[in-house]
Amino acid sequence: MTLPIRITPSILAADFARLGQEVRDVTEAGADWIHLDVMDGHFVPNISFGPDVIKSLRPHTKAFFDCHLMIAPADPYLEAFAKAGCDSITVHAEAGPHLHRSLQTIRSLGKKVGVTLNPATPLSVLENVLDDVDLILIMSVNPGFGGQKLIPAMVDKIKAAKALIGSRPIELQVDGGITVETIGAATIAGANVFVAGSAVFQGNSVESYCQRISALRSAATA
Ligand code: DX5
Ligand code: ZN
Repeated sequence: MTLPIRITPSILAADFARLGQEVRDVTEAGADWIHLDVMDGHFVPNISFGPDVIKSLRPHTKAFFDCHLMIAPADPYLEAFAKAGCDSITVHAEAGPHLHRSLQTIRSLGKKVGVTLNPATPLSVLENVLDDVDLILIMSVNPGFGGQKLIPAMVDKIKAAKALIGSRPIELQVDGGITVETIGAATIAGANVFVAGSAVFQGNSVESYCQRISALRSAATA
């Protein structure tokens, strides 16, 4: 199953004082999705933003809101993120003891269902939920911060995830350290959705967003 290449800028690297404008600019610059990194200072050692911020961004773009929850527990907050206007909600398999229940809840809220794994978590935890997800996110850095380097071993993990997915129509996303230098290897390994924080927003100069997104897209398809 071949799904389209999608570039999903992470607003973690955007100018938080001008988030609405940043989301509009990056949409106009050709972003396919908007990646929303939610951090709780507990599951990951950093705090970002919650559903109210996402709700206030919603009127600024029609782009697909791809929400990555780095929070534990996640279940008590899923409804709030759904109501805030997220189109997909991705939870960490490590965030709680009942992954299947979290995925079922996201499905029942009418949202695309995503699951993600920290670099050290084996793919085997996904074997029994493959028919319950729309998206698998392979973390290529330890979550919590933008601007880190992609962990090379994660390229083989993407390849193994692609094999596990087989012919299912599941989006295979990679997050962390994606640049024009690394995106090609991730595409060859089988990923089709690429989160890019620093590679898009670094310098926060709107004039460069379009060029940066197209450079990522060309490097992915080269
Ligand atoms: C890391 C976040 C990423 C991050 C990516 O915890 O999940 O989405 O913003 O940033 P870059 O692209 O700079 O590695
Ligand atoms: Zn993320």
